[in-house]
Amino acid sequence: MTFEELKKLLSFSESASVEARWILDENLSDSDIYKIIERRKIGEPLSKILGHRGFWRGDFIVDENVLDPRADSETLIQAVLEKFPNKNHSLRILDLGTGSGCLLISLLMEYPNATGVGVDISQKALEIAQKNAIKNGVAPKFILSDMAKLPKDLGAFDIVISNPPYIPTKEIETLDKNVKDYDPLMALDGGEDGLKFYRIIAEKAPAPVVFLEIGKGQEKEVQKIFEEKKWRLWGAKRDFSGIIRVLIFKKDL
Ligand SMILES: C[S@@+](CC[C@H](N)C(=O)[O-])C[C@H]1O[C@@H](n2cnc3c(N)ncnc32)[C@H](O)[C@@H]1O
Repeated sequence: MTFEELKKLLSFSESASVEARWILDENLSDSDIYKIIERRKIGEPLSKILGHRGFWRGDFIVDENVLDPRADSETLIQAVLEKFPNKNHSLRILDLGTGSGCLLISLLMEYPNATGVGVDISQKALEIAQKNAIKNGVAPKFILSDMAKLPKDLGAFDIVISNPPYIPTKEIETLDKNVKDYDPLMALDGGEDGLKFYRIIAEKAPAPVVFLEIGKGQEKEVQKIFEEKKWRLWGAKRDFSGIIRVLIFKKDL
């Protein structure tokens, strides 16, 4: 099948060109491609059909147990690289709500001397994260834990990174089908106002610097939550669409 033919078949998708190129790169038979298109038509994301997706410089296995890594989340990687430009830095990184591991693994790929711990409440997500670490040639530690009740012997960290669930519970029903039907609810639900996990992180983060992904328009409320816990804003970074996507806080521990 040619690129143009495939793009036409995918015309229902906003990213028909990108998806057509991605499918062709998989070297599939035409009959497999037709099956993929049928699944795409009912809203299943291409990454979940193919079982993997590119993020930053890596390739990540994804399934129904992990959030599909978003291009916007690469903003957090850029923010860390800007604040810690020395790639030889032996950064100790804690990732709260690691999911597929895409953030932590991407940073370990950038900083060869860094070490990392990824925490998630989902055992199934951690199994995917572990496979992704091996696939991308890095070796973080993964720990099954509620981020509100972190083990006391977790160790010391230079930075905490987190893309926590941040959708207010009531808004989940209104999300696009490709999100609400295919990303785990546990990865989306940020409690009544969407800010539950920011309160936990502001209270518990065991590091002097925190990099957070936030939802559109949450910056003022998240800043207030952190300032109440004696953190000061150290930076903010916009995503590809110009939305403030990452906040950075600092604290004297
Ligand atoms: C929005 S996803 C982010 C996944 C990944 N870090 C990324 O950026 O693609 C949030 C993750 O937090 C995890 N999570 C939800 N509640 C949690 C809790 N109480 N403690 C630890 N992890 C939690 C979910 O299982 C999910 O993997």
